[in-house]
Amino acid sequence: MSRIPEATVRLIMERTDIVGIIGEFVRLEQRGGRFLGLCPFHGEKTPSFSVDREKGYFYCFGCQKGGNAASFLMEHEKMSYREALEDLARRSGVVLDIDEAPSGEELARKSLLELNERIAGAFHWLLTEHEMGLFGREYLAKRAISPEKIAAFKLGYAPSDRRWLHAFLVKKGYSPDFLAHSGLFAEKRPGFPLFADRLMFPIASVRGEVIAFGGRLLQGEGPKYINSPDTLLFHKQENLFALDQAAGSIKKEGWALVCEGYMDAVSFHVAGLAFAVAPLGTAFTEKQAKLLHRYAERVYFAFDADPAGQKATERALVVAAAAGIESKVVVLPGGKDASEILEKEGQGSLQKVRDLAINGDEFLVKRARSLFDGASVDGKAKAAASLFAYINALDSEVKREGFIDLAARELRLDPRSIRSDYEDSKKGIVPRRKSGIGNTVDRQATRSPDLVFMLAVAVHPELFEGLRKAISLDELDDLRARELYIALEEGYRAEERGLEPLLARLPDENLKSNVLAAAVSGEFDLNVGRFVGEGVTRIERRSILLKRERIRERISELGPEAEGLGELQYELMHLDAELAKMKGERDERS
Ligand code: UTP
Ligand code: MN
Repeated sequence: MSRIPEATVRLIMERTDIVGIIGEFVRLEQRGGRFLGLCPFHGEKTPSFSVDREKGYFYCFGCQKGGNAASFLMEHEKMSYREALEDLARRSGVVLDIDEAPSGEELARKSLLELNERIAGAFHWLLTEHEMGLFGREYLAKRAISPEKIAAFKLGYAPSDRRWLHAFLVKKGYSPDFLAHSGLFAEKRPGFPLFADRLMFPIASVRGEVIAFGGRLLQGEGPKYINSPDTLLFHKQENLFALDQAAGSIKKEGWALVCEGYMDAVSFHVAGLAFAVAPLGTAFTEKQAKLLHRYAERVYFAFDADPAGQKATERALVVAAAAGIESKVVVLPGGKDASEILEKEGQGSLQKVRDLAINGDEFLVKRARSLFDGASVDGKAKAAASLFAYINALDSEVKREGFIDLAARELRLDPRSIRSDYEDSKKGIVPRRKSGIGNTVDRQATRSPDLVFMLAVAVHPELFEGLRKAISLDELDDLRARELYIALEEGYRAEERGLEPLLARLPDENLKSNVLAAAVSGEFDLNVGRFVGEGVTRIERRSILLKRERIRERISELGPEAEGLGELQYELMHLDAELAKMKGERDERS
């Protein structure tokens, strides 16, 4: 059976009135902007089941089930995902074309592939042969990308003239309607190309067919990278950049290398490490792990050395473990990324990074140690707890045993206490279920201030743009708050800012539940701007206090005669002044 295209699913959901659907099974009463009723999934006498028409979600505060209209039908009527969608399509008058779809879709896929090939060819020619591509050629030379790899990856240049592409393609006989769904043009502005004056990276399927593009800014303003949206051919969560070039080498070596971006992947290939691939502007996903697992049992992760990259590594290790992949981590030296190493130090240096790899297990334990205060009992407990997701993902008891022993040694804890805390934590984690309906949610009491703060931003993602400028990831105290920050950052970069894409980016069912509950309960609908503003101030203040504490410690370590004391004291004064300024602003407000 052919799959229902994503655009159709979106259309069905847009046309579905969730109150109408659920209203057939549950008596709902309107209260303010929401509808309330007795939960059909657990016995109750006072209503805690809430439906939000505008957002299209339901959520029960009693049993924590929640989701959209399709998940409701799946859970309540025991339908499969497809049956639920078919049912909703029938009700909302969306035609699914099930019989014609395969051939129709096949045809469309074929034409889209041809179109992509043709455009990749044109962009490549412009980059390598045309005067317009001169700047791009020089740029790549500066970044030490060899002509051989420019050809192998069919890198290209998209001209700055925004009228060119559409006109060129219409002249070749493509209909405007077909072009509108090609992923090459802005959805809201027909004929307006997504890529202009950009260095182009064709994204290929494993078979080497061009299925999408990424484009890097060469000069001027705008997002550094733009990626094609998902289309008939391309699903960014399911594809890996460079896999077509890397597959042979991955099989031969028995290893793959996953790095952060286009440039890093190409740089590794230039240096002869041809087993390098990269996810496409998102975190490393379960589907990408499964895809890689077809070629290799083992993976090197070589993400950026910054905090976001290290956090992404942590998550990737969990995903890889769950797919049965053994991992090593390359921590790139000097805070550089792979392409900088190639550019500044040459191929030899980049080839050597493999020797720097440590086991994934070791990386995680070291990281846990560095993130939490190893001197306090509380810090040790938190460090151990940060490893539970990984322990849970390991696919054998032997691996779990070995990892817990390692963690115990490094954190100076008894393995039995790690084990027992882990078992306790599992009682709170309901295993993933196929239906995608949320399960347990933490009680209000266990939500830390940072988590509540980030939940408010998660349900009002328009506030994130301001937040990311004020606060960095490592200033957040709570791991789940950090997960939310990362997912919001990914959404921000991919220019997908709604609730739905955010939920899809969250790795953890429990956190998803928390977000759904926050959205449906409307707890952040009033004065959210002010609430978030105050949160920002609170966190900034906390960071300053922490910095001040560190400097104080440094000063007392150094003693009164030491060199460089003046500088530290000056810094201290500066921080005090900032604190005083914040206090003044706060007094003014109240
Ligand atoms: P990086 O900023 O590390 O880019 O983002 P890069 O690939 O190393 O490129 P150079 O070295 O600066 O030229 C890593 C990846 O994140 C995605 C892209 O997939 C990129 O390769 N990304 C980044 C976006 O999708 N959009 C952005 O605006 C930035
Ligand atoms: Mn880079």
